[in-house]
Parts: sequence; C-alpha cells; structure tokens
Amino acid sequence: MENYEKKWTNLWLKYEKRADAGNFCFCEMVCVQGFDEHNTIISNALKEFAKGIKGMLGITPAVVTGIPAKGIWIAKVADAIVPNEGFHLKTEAERIVMEASDENGVLYGIFYLLRQIAMEKSLAGLNIKERPAIKNRMLNHWDNLDGSVERGYSGHSFYFDNNKILISERTVDYARFIASIGINGVVINNVNVKDAATYLITPTYFNEVRQLKEIFAGYGVKLFLSLNFAAPLELGGPDSADPFDEDVISWWRGQIALVYEALPDLGGFLVKADSEGRPGPFTYGRTQADGANMLARLLDVHGGMLIWRCFVYNCTQDWRDRKTDRARAGYDNFIQSDGDYHPNVILQIKNGPMDFQIREPVSPLIGGLKKTNQMLEVQIAQEYTGQQIDVCYLIPMFKEVLDFKYCGSSEKIFDVIKNIGFVAVTNTGDDENWTGNDLAAANLYGFGRLAWSVSLSAEEIAEEWIRQTLSCDEEVIAVVKKILLSSRDTFEKYTCPLGIGWMVTPHYHYGPSVDGYEYSQWGTYHRADHLGIGVDRTDKGTGYTGQYQEPHKSIYNNIETCPEELLLFFHYVPYKYILKSGKTLIQHIYDTHFEGVMEVEEMIKAWNRIEAKLPADVFAVVTGRFEQQLNNAKEWRDHINSYFYRKSGIADEKGRKFY
Ligand code: GCU
Repeated sequence: MENYEKKWTNLWLKYEKRADAGNFCFCEMVCVQGFDEHNTIISNALKEFAKGIKGMLGITPAVVTGIPAKGIWIAKVADAIVPNEGFHLKTEAERIVMEASDENGVLYGIFYLLRQIAMEKSLAGLNIKERPAIKNRMLNHWDNLDGSVERGYSGHSFYFDNNKILISERTVDYARFIASIGINGVVINNVNVKDAATYLITPTYFNEVRQLKEIFAGYGVKLFLSLNFAAPLELGGPDSADPFDEDVISWWRGQIALVYEALPDLGGFLVKADSEGRPGPFTYGRTQADGANMLARLLDVHGGMLIWRCFVYNCTQDWRDRKTDRARAGYDNFIQSDGDYHPNVILQIKNGPMDFQIREPVSPLIGGLKKTNQMLEVQIAQEYTGQQIDVCYLIPMFKEVLDFKYCGSSEKIFDVIKNIGFVAVTNTGDDENWTGNDLAAANLYGFGRLAWSVSLSAEEIAEEWIRQTLSCDEEVIAVVKKILLSSRDTFEKYTCPLGIGWMVTPHYHYGPSVDGYEYSQWGTYHRADHLGIGVDRTDKGTGYTGQYQEPHKSIYNNIETCPEELLLFFHYVPYKYILKSGKTLIQHIYDTHFEGVMEVEEMIKAWNRIEAKLPADVFAVVTGRFEQQLNNAKEWRDHINSYFYRKSGIADEKGRKFY
C-alpha cells in the first residue's frame, strides 16, 4: 500500500467517546461460531467491532470460543432462516445473539450494533430481523484516470491520478464507510470511458484493479468497471464495434475471458453507449438490445453482470424543432425491445426522463418495461442541485421516486427495482471531508441506508447521520434536521420553478443563466415568451404524457389535474394562470424566489446558533459554503425575477425591487 499524503475524516464512523447507554456488558466478548474467523469479511468485521468499541466505550472486546454469558454470540444459520446479507439480533440478558447465513450478514450486523452505540441507543431488548430491501445497492464513480472527477465537487479522485491507480489506507477506509451503510457494489471509473480508462480491461491495470477488488471484497462490495463500447477499435482489435460482427464478438469473448482470468469475481461492466458522443450499436444500425445482449451473453459465462444505461437521446437537437422532445428519448429508444434483452442485462435508468433536475416526473420507462431487469439511477453528486456548495438533502426526493405508484395499482417503483438494484452517481472525492460540504455526506449516508431499508423516513435517516457525525445533542439534532429536511424545497424555490429545470450556466451547471440552454442543441428548453412559459408535453404537444400508464397519462395531460410542482414540465402556462394557492403563476415565481433567499438566511442563523456544539472544522467548512449558497440564491432570485418581469411586463404585487 502506498503512502497517502492527504488527510481524511472518518465521516460517520468517528468512533469517538459515547455516553454509556448500558451497553458495556454486550461488548466485552465476541464469539463467532460456524464462520471461519480467518475469512476476510469476518476478520474485518471483528476488527471493526474492536476499533469502534475501543473508541466509543473504551474497552477491548475479547474474542472467545465458548458462548459468552456477556457479549455477542455470532452464529451461522441456514439461509432459509436468515437470507444472505441479512441478520437477526436478539438480546438475551447480557448477551446478544446474532444469526446470519453469510459473512456479509455478520458484517452488516456488526455495523448495526456500532451504529446503535454511536447514536447512544441501548442494545437491551433488541429483537430485530434485518435484510436489505434492494438486491444491488451500488455507487457509480465518475472518476477519470487522470484524477479528475466528472461532475465532482469534492476534489480529485482517490482512485486515480495521472493514469495510475491509487491504493492506500484511504481506499480501505472508503470501503468500510460504504459497507457500513450496506453498499455492495461500486463502479470505480466514469461512464464516459476514454483514453487510459479503455485500458482498464487490459493487463496494464490488472494488478492494481485486483488489489482494489480485494479490498472491496473484504467488505462485501463487488467491483465493477465502466466499459468503452468501441474498445475493439481502440485496443487493436477489429476495425469495428458492430455487435453482429463475428470478429467483434470473438474479440470481446477473448478480452472478457482475459479479464475474468485476472479478476475472478469482478462484478461486471457498466456501459454508456450511443450517448453524448459515446459510441454504440446505433452507429451500426443495431438496437440497444443488440449491443447489450452481445456483451451480456459473453459475460454470463463468467458470472458477471452487464449493466446498460438508458441515457440515450439526441444531443444535437435543433431548438427550433418543437416536436422532438428529449424527455421522450429514453422510453422511445428502449421500450420496443422489452422482452428481447438477455436475462443478464440490467437496464440502468435515471429517475427522471431528463437529467437529475431538482424536480422531474419519474421516468415512464421504469415500470413501463414489463419483461426487463431495471435498476434505478439517482445522482448524489449535486450536479444540478447545488454542487455540494448549496445544501440539498436529496433523500426526500429519492423516497418520492421509490414510492411512485406508476401504474394505477399499489405497485411502486420500489417493487420494480427491488430484486435488481438502486444506484447513485456518488459525491465523493479526495477532499479532507470526502464530500466538499460536510452536510452533503448526509446524501451518501442516506442513499445507502435507504437502499438497505426503504421504509426509513428521510427524517429518521437524517437523525441517524447527525447523531453519528455531528452530535447526539438534542438542539443540534433539531437544527440540522430542519436544515436538511427543508433544503430541497428551499433550493427549488430560488432556482427553476415548477419542474421547468435547466436555466443553469451551460456546461458548469451552477448558477443562473435563464436562456443559457434555450438556443442550444441539448434539448433542454423552457420556451418562455412574453405570455407564458413551459413545455407542452401533452397529446397536443410532444405527446410525452402518452408514455405514462394510467392514471398518470391523464393526470399529467390535463393542466387542471397535473401536480403543480410539475406544471411547467408538462404544460405551457400563461403567466396570469391562477394556481391552487390563488396566486398567478408569475406571482408564484416572484414569491418563491424571495422566499428561497429568506430561507437560506434562516438556515444560516440557525446554524450559527449551534456553533459551540459543533466540531470546529465542520462548522468552518459549512459556514463558508453557506456564504456561497446565499450569494447563489440571491443571484438566482434576481436573474429569474428580473427575467420574468422583463418578459411579461407584469409587476410584483408586493412592489419589491427587481433589476
Ligand atoms: C449528465 C452530465 C454528464 C454525464 C451524463 C451521464 O449529462 O452532465 O457529465 O456524463 O449526465 O449521465 O452520462
């Protein structure tokens, strides 16, 4: 392992001294029965327990062979009793019995206990049965081999630098952190696979990738790689990437065999094809299914998964063309092959039809597909949601998506994806605090916890994170919880109104530029004129509403029934249109933008009140971010309000200052 110069924090695994909640007796001894103590996951779990208990309670648990009267008795049971990855915990007097059927279950059980202790909760009277709600709980890193991170707001990559793979204690800590929240898969490189990254599937990088893979495997996490669909052309194979070309197929067969020989147990590959300049099957007149199936068949032999992204749209659109609708693209490109995807293909679908905006409807492709494996993709890297400068706790949004009843029955998006997976484009980098803004770590923590246990509320998750990371003080919990839970609405108020999205500075995606994308090729238009704003996606417009199943098709299609927070996503609406609040649309835009700034000011005041109770480094970093957030909110308020005042000529009822 290399030395790693930069410092890093312990996120929520701080293991600092904790008030005794009567837990000493349970932590004095550990006995493991039925599992091999030398198994890496088991020994990592025991090491973790010792480290945590020493830090929090000041004692060193003894590892014993006989069943302890005081302590933890870990017993292996059949998976018919406790499913893989799950655990049962039961307190019997001064002993806790943990049952699990595999090593991962033990690891998660240990992290459960450490979490309770860190939150100063008592372990007496435990009687719980836990298993993950969702099968694959994954993170996608958009890290490039040169060390940059696409849409990274927390420094550089901690995996790569200057086309080399970095392996250090930091990597191990990262594996611990994500295992502690139940993550069981990571894709380490950017979906845009270019240059050196194409060589990750060649012997150039096998040794280092193997080491990384083993570090993660020790914490129950499978490693995946993003793949360049044009690799045959770039790595000296056939002069084509046509999935029907026999030479191409046999090149991939050989390459994948080579990879699995060097990296047995590799999780598989993630592919972004035919998207934003990446090559793909469309180049050869083939379907997305043709491309995905070719690779999936070859991977199946080795037990690897093929994950294929559905972010496929025309990114060279003419803004004058009002019929082409980027929102339609995912569905249009993938639905016709439903049932034709190889069983080893998983389609990875972004939560909304556009691209990680602060408010979008749920993609109609998820659950629209009936015979295809689907995985839900969200973004905790805050590309469009404040870039880890502005606080924006995204768990409430993710819960909305999972809870969406997409087809008129009680079936939810969660039901579609639970046996497949949930993935987040992650928000970490080599910053000392990992996530730029310390509060942004609540999104990483929250994503993992939600994927493990979808029934947790956004509030419960926030409280868990605060207790472990900041303090168990009631005032701190109340203040930070309020900041987190209101942050998404606040951000939405001072940025893009009612689901319209975009209006951001092109390319960087931070700060306002109302017309920044309006006359561009990217298909992200707001269509504002002097009378109104919004995109007509109804059956009279682009027809996008027709991709939904009932009742949503009708609900969204009708301006009267369309949920107001999505009004401008689905409809072109006159500024004088009266909303349910009794306000006109234009007045709503003005008011929310003033409110948004005021709410940021309130957050800052509340944050300052608890300064003395917060870790000094966290207070300093977050305070700096809040200052930037307030400036950003004011910029947005003034751009948006001035823009719409100038467009519409309608004065603010309250006579506030516009520029
Ligand atoms: C967004 C983002 C890109 C990214 C893409 C993707 O468009 O801006 O940087 O590559 O999403 O999800 O593939």
